[in-house]
Amino acid sequence: MAEFSLPANSVVKQGKVFKADEGAKNIRRFIVYRYDPGNGENPSTDTYEVDMDSCGPMVLDALLKIKDQMDASLSLRRSCREGICGSCSMNIDGANTLACTKAISDITGDVKVYPLPHQPVVKDLVSDLTNFYAQYASVEPWMKTDSPTPPDRERLQSKDDREKLDGLYECILCACCSTSCPSYWWNSDRYLGPAALLNAYRWIVDSRDEATGVRLDELEDPFKLYRCHTIMNCAKVCPKGLNPARAIAETKKLLVQRKM
Ligand code: SF4
Ligand code: SF4
Ligand code: FES
Repeated sequence: MAEFSLPANSVVKQGKVFKADEGAKNIRRFIVYRYDPGNGENPSTDTYEVDMDSCGPMVLDALLKIKDQMDASLSLRRSCREGICGSCSMNIDGANTLACTKAISDITGDVKVYPLPHQPVVKDLVSDLTNFYAQYASVEPWMKTDSPTPPDRERLQSKDDREKLDGLYECILCACCSTSCPSYWWNSDRYLGPAALLNAYRWIVDSRDEATGVRLDELEDPFKLYRCHTIMNCAKVCPKGLNPARAIAETKKLLVQRKM
């Protein structure tokens, strides 16, 4: 059997332990990934004992309590704290999700918190999503039309056509899906990944968009689309309950149908 060893600078070391205040009775331990590319040291995991009697119910509440009261050097992204902005995505208890909607009570034992997998780390829990956003931009996620804009009204859509966008438009670009996709891990330079492809399909099926053919041409590529092997991790982790794998399968179907 092949044996692999990690380069020395990638070994995650055990970091510091931050104790809860004396007298705290309801303690949960948070094991949090720490990495600062500026200090030349290996990544580590720090342990924080959090007093749950003075902490909100979600993992984000605990991380903010840690940052505010125990260790101001911890870096993370967040904004809305209610599952809308997509910025607090990270790997919690082994699965990608949003820290603000993940209840601590749903986790047994220590709460392990890591950045999204297989992305460069800017610092601690902050992943570098430059490539992810560039791929999203590459599908040109806006309405494209050739026909003149109606002078007296919006471009209308039937109720049935509008319903085709349900399960697509709700994407908050958190990247939980793409960074849980094995095909994306190995080919993220050329495979667009589930989030970008779901958003591509969102415009392909929009009855008002007039660039369907060009959009499909762009995706007809052995890597951009066809690296999806229907492993379904994407649908499993999406915190908004969306199914990128289905959108990808529908796109492939449209590519076949237009050849018939
Ligand atoms: S279904 Fe496709 S996009 Fe989703 S995780 Fe699997 S390979 Fe990735
Ligand atoms: S499809 Fe779901 S998991 Fe993927 S980016 Fe959109 S909201 Fe996040
Ligand atoms: S903080 Fe906005 S989705 Fe979690």
